[in-house]
Amino acid sequence: VIVARTRDELERAKRDLRGLGRLALVPTMGALHPGHDSLITLAREEAGAVAASIFVNPLQFGPTEDFTRYPRDESGDLTRLEALGAHLAFLPSTEEVYPGGAPRVTVHPGAMGERLCGAFRPGHFAGVLTVVAKLFGMFRPELSVFGQKDHQQAVLIRRMVEDLELGPITVRVAPTVREQDGLAMSSRNAYLSAEERRQAVGLHQSLQAARQGYVRGERAGARLLGLARVRLGEFPLLQLQYLELVHPETLQSVERAESGSVLAIAALCGRTRLIDNVVLP
Ligand code: PAF
Repeated sequence: VIVARTRDELERAKRDLRGLGRLALVPTMGALHPGHDSLITLAREEAGAVAASIFVNPLQFGPTEDFTRYPRDESGDLTRLEALGAHLAFLPSTEEVYPGGAPRVTVHPGAMGERLCGAFRPGHFAGVLTVVAKLFGMFRPELSVFGQKDHQQAVLIRRMVEDLELGPITVRVAPTVREQDGLAMSSRNAYLSAEERRQAVGLHQSLQAARQGYVRGERAGARLLGLARVRLGEFPLLQLQYLELVHPETLQSVERAESGSVLAIAALCGRTRLIDNVVLP
């Protein structure tokens, strides 16, 4: 894997990879885990050259959030990318991405960015969309891959590409990868104490309780969310932020569940904020 840390190195690496065909970009914040592996693997299947960016983007963290303690593992990440057959790793410094400090012009996600996670993390999606737009500008990829675990993020990135005509970039979303007990893989799982880790599975279990209700034929959103809430009650360390049944594209709350509707949840597990979602079959 070619390692680039500056824009010049990135340009040179992109030139070296030109012969490989379509370029895919997998933007990440590092601390790579099997969830990221699946994004790289999907990119490998669909593009000739695969680049991953590793950048903990300060713009998307609130002042009281975990920017400084976010897990960082550069050498582990590079070993992983090498093993997965990625061609290029971009590891820029904050100054490289934001020369002269935070950008004056940023991408505003609109009302869709103020719901769900956006209601609890003001400014978060503006930070995400701004850095993703910059990365798209630097890489000019034809394909970019994101994880379904961050459903709202993936939907907003798709909308940004479409609404701001950033294409041709195909945005692909890879299924959530889970631990054996069902906990969605996340770099933030590393923060959990042993007891928190045991209870963290409550997010998945409450979504599963609602999903099972749906599979049995229940369509009323309130009843499905009720099933999820009852299950969540079995996990006292989980402090619910939101639990909603939403339309997969508009993210508007819906009263009746149908195939493709998304059940989304966020909760604090101790001090760690966890999210998960399930797409109804
Ligand atoms: O999902 C993430 O890891 C980040 O939000 C992203 C897309 C890399 C932007 O910083």
